Amino acid sequence: MSEAKGRLFGLGVGPGDPELITLKALRLLRTSQVVAYPAAKGRKGNALTIVEAHLDPSQILLPLIYPVTTEKMPPPFNYETAMRAFYDESAEEVAAHLDAGRDVAAICEGDPFFYGSFMYLHDRLADRYETEVVPGVCSMLACASVLGAPLVYRNQTLTVLSGVLPEEELKRRLGDTEAAAIMKLGTNFTKARKVVADLGLLDRALYVERATMENQRIEPLAAVDPDTVPYFAMILVPGPRWEA
Ligand SMILES: C[S@@+](CC[C@H](N)C(=O)[O-])C[C@H]1O[C@@H](n2cnc3c(N)ncnc32)[C@H](O)[C@@H]1O
Repeated sequence: MSEAKGRLFGLGVGPGDPELITLKALRLLRTSQVVAYPAAKGRKGNALTIVEAHLDPSQILLPLIYPVTTEKMPPPFNYETAMRAFYDESAEEVAAHLDAGRDVAAICEGDPFFYGSFMYLHDRLADRYETEVVPGVCSMLACASVLGAPLVYRNQTLTVLSGVLPEEELKRRLGDTEAAAIMKLGTNFTKARKVVADLGLLDRALYVERATMENQRIEPLAAVDPDTVPYFAMILVPGPRWEA
């Protein structure tokens, strides 16, 4: 007789402040037997840090450890191949618990479907197991809140950009929008700020790192020391204020 399989939950746990989690995500987190979370080697990871106060010692913790984060690896290392293998293996680790009838809460910083690590588990598992995704407060909106920056008025267009894009492409896309978020800064910061400056947007653009986390930092964009910029940082260009 086949046993019932567990359910997979992709839970957005918000951008950092533990109070920015939905009641639904919290309920499913607490009732899942397994909690899967992404983390860098030797680190707890943001998602687990955000929710750990809500966990019970009886819950099984399943760390999914990234093979590489920002460090440079010697050739013939291929980032795409390594990440694909990592997500394949992670999905099978999660699947083993689901096959054993255990519900798995895969927690994700911010929102699971907004550049979320959960997307890669979803792509591999959602057609094999009952799956539910619970949206979370995404970092872009948390950044706007702590910066006190209304993002888009009336018919303005908001463009979400990855700082990883080449300079020319960043410039083309940023030049063609009214409001923007530039994510994934870290070592991409200098390039991103140059593009903002070249387009004459330095006065309007804002910078924040680790929004809503205990170590949140807000600085004028022009004053930021590139050597200190973490990956969890963002440049926001709010749409021009509409004087109602
Ligand atoms: C892989 S994406 C994860 C996005 C996340 N799923 C969300 O919904 O916001 C990581 C990028 O999100 C941004 N980010 C996430 N959390 C942040 C925070 N608390 N403060 C500022 N930026 C943040 C940074 O730009 C970072 O490089």
